[in-house]
Amino acid sequence: MAKVFAIANQKGGVGKTTTCINLAASLVATKRRVLLIDLDPQGNATMGSGIDKHGLEHSIYDLLIGECDLSEAMQFSEHGGYQLLPANRDLTAAEVALLEMSMKESRLRSALAPIRENYDFILIDCPPSLNMLTINALVAADGVIIPMQCEYYALEGLSDLVNSIQRIGALLNPNLQIEGLLRTMYDPRISLTNDVSAQLKEHFGDKLYDAVIPRNVRLAEAPSFGMPALVYDKQSRGAIAYLALAGELVRRQRAAAKTATA
Ligand SMILES: Nc1ncnc2c1ncn2[C@@H]1O[C@H](COP(=O)(O)OP(=O)(O)O)[C@@H](O)[C@H]1O
Ligand SMILES: [Mg+2]
Repeated sequence: MAKVFAIANQKGGVGKTTTCINLAASLVATKRRVLLIDLDPQGNATMGSGIDKHGLEHSIYDLLIGECDLSEAMQFSEHGGYQLLPANRDLTAAEVALLEMSMKESRLRSALAPIRENYDFILIDCPPSLNMLTINALVAADGVIIPMQCEYYALEGLSDLVNSIQRIGALLNPNLQIEGLLRTMYDPRISLTNDVSAQLKEHFGDKLYDAVIPRNVRLAEAPSFGMPALVYDKQSRGAIAYLALAGELVRRQRAAAKTATA
């Protein structure tokens, strides 16, 4: 049964999409079966996976409003080796369309139920806001992975996000966990980075991933070729960092499964 992780942060530009694409490809490299869901109308995860968002017959939007089935929307990322439920601007209409629907918060969860057993990991790329799409992701997920830059204001935004996750969890998805915090675009030469890092460790303890993602130009270049960094330049520091993250994620899952059966 797949573990479903929402990659969320209401701030834009913190590395959500980069994390989705590169973590998905890295999990595939460790022989896991992965589905990536693009839940952002910008469609960046779709394009970065090598699928043209402009030419979609069906997208996650059609699936959410019940206008197509899973197999019609499903795509395969050749370079990434994972499956993809793509998105484009059509998804901006979802907010309004969902409001009129029953069970509007759990449309994604219901849509995924029949295929959860086909994957080891399902990653959801959230939009940069706490809207109905993000709520759908949080209701469908077992855990939230929060990518963030180690800036002063990041901490402020983080407490809003954590409160929202707790509120939505309490109301709609009691099993929802914060799976982990990921430091992105990390530069240890900046002293503020180290201060913020220390504060994150103090507040979140083991939830803070040991793996950190450095600022690396290969990670920024790869999506324009529709590739993860692992394929674009597998020696790059960015590619190696995401492989390390995938390893850490898998080890944590294994440890959690062991405690659950012990
Ligand atoms: N570790 C990194 N090093 C260099 N550039 C990065 C890194 N992570 C993300 N970027 C770039 O920063 C921008 C924002 O990243 P993105 O993943 O799209 O963030 P989000 O999905 O949170 O808006 C993109 O242009 C991306 O290529
Ligand atoms: Mg994004």
